[in-house]
Amino acid sequence: MSTEFAAPFAALPVAPRDPRLADAPLLRAARRLRPAHTPVWFMRQAGRSLPEYRKVREGIAMLDSCRRPELVTEITLQPVRRYGVDAAIFFSDIVVPLKAVGVGLDIRPGVGPVIDQPFRTRADLDRIPELEPEMISDIAESVGLLTAELGGTPLIGFAGAPFTLASYLVEGGPSRDLARTKALMYSDPQLWEALLQRLAQISAGFLRVQVAAGASAVQLFDSWVGALPLADYRRFVQPSSAAVLDAVRELDPTVPRIHFGVQTGELLPAMAEAGADVVGVDFRVPLDVATARLGGDHAVQGNLDPALLFASREVLGQRVRQTLEAGAAAPGHIFNLGHGVLPDTDPDQAKFVVDTVHAWKG
Ligand code: CP3
Repeated sequence: MSTEFAAPFAALPVAPRDPRLADAPLLRAARRLRPAHTPVWFMRQAGRSLPEYRKVREGIAMLDSCRRPELVTEITLQPVRRYGVDAAIFFSDIVVPLKAVGVGLDIRPGVGPVIDQPFRTRADLDRIPELEPEMISDIAESVGLLTAELGGTPLIGFAGAPFTLASYLVEGGPSRDLARTKALMYSDPQLWEALLQRLAQISAGFLRVQVAAGASAVQLFDSWVGALPLADYRRFVQPSSAAVLDAVRELDPTVPRIHFGVQTGELLPAMAEAGADVVGVDFRVPLDVATARLGGDHAVQGNLDPALLFASREVLGQRVRQTLEAGAAAPGHIFNLGHGVLPDTDPDQAKFVVDTVHAWKG
């Protein structure tokens, strides 16, 4: 697949980075250098379980909140202040760039993204124009505000991978079996490729804007790709994800790229081939086993079961240490959950995990 994305993104000037970031444990682990301590952050650490998040979001729709730089900055910083995590994850959503190009969609509370007119035919491609930097100038502004506040703490930018974005567009909303997505992929491979190519441009553009504005690492979320068998992943999905990851490297080769999906145990070797520096692993595969499947030379991220934050401190502490020991088999380990923080999680349990990780002497 071509990696020739729209020229304006390739020409974006990249903001200078805070020199303290050179020692940031998250960036050192991603680069497979020994960090001062094992870094930890949580997927979905911003929002969901924090009372201070619910308070500032009161009366503001999710997608509106993502476009207000001061609010985005406040929400992104909340978990950094409360937990002392080693990175901030940019507060936004994978569907924000789709909305920015004009796709009619909304995020419904407790449901997720819902698309006005689902993608079904080639004519629908016309309703998904390419992303241009000016469409998301507020995102660059938010990132700039954040990196100024964060100093030596990395900001992780992110985007949805083409397959996961396509799944929402084709299904029209969240789906258990992705039946329509798979039907389109298998029955009209040419249209599928055209759709994924367009989404790769959008995903790459969203990441490039965040990197140019100062994000010091990125995560590509291919949350639902575990629905596919290995051979179909390689044929129908991997090229577009690889193109997105390449586009970030072309803009700034120093920015580590993390690639994550759920239920990807069978796909790990092919995800490693897609080119990221760090592969995120869900909680079903121990990190030492995942490291072997990845070929041994990738840093890994993960992978405590988010449900364990509901267990006793004793059990939780044991499982955190077990995860750290398994992660030591990899050339770099970023501690995280195997998927996002669950909505009813007690923030004190998350703080306990951070403290336990930081106290660990591997
Ligand atoms: O804390 C963070 O991780 C940063 C912010 C973030 C959000 N969404 C905010 C959000 C990130 C990184 C995402 C990514 C995202 N969005 C993914 C990939 C991550 C994953 O969980 O696998 C996916 C699949 C989406 C799509 C999406 N957005 C869903 C399925 C939902 C509903 C489920 C939910 O979490 O409530 C959303 C809504 C959403 N995105 C919320 C937040 C804080 C909740 C909306 C609200 O508070 O009203």
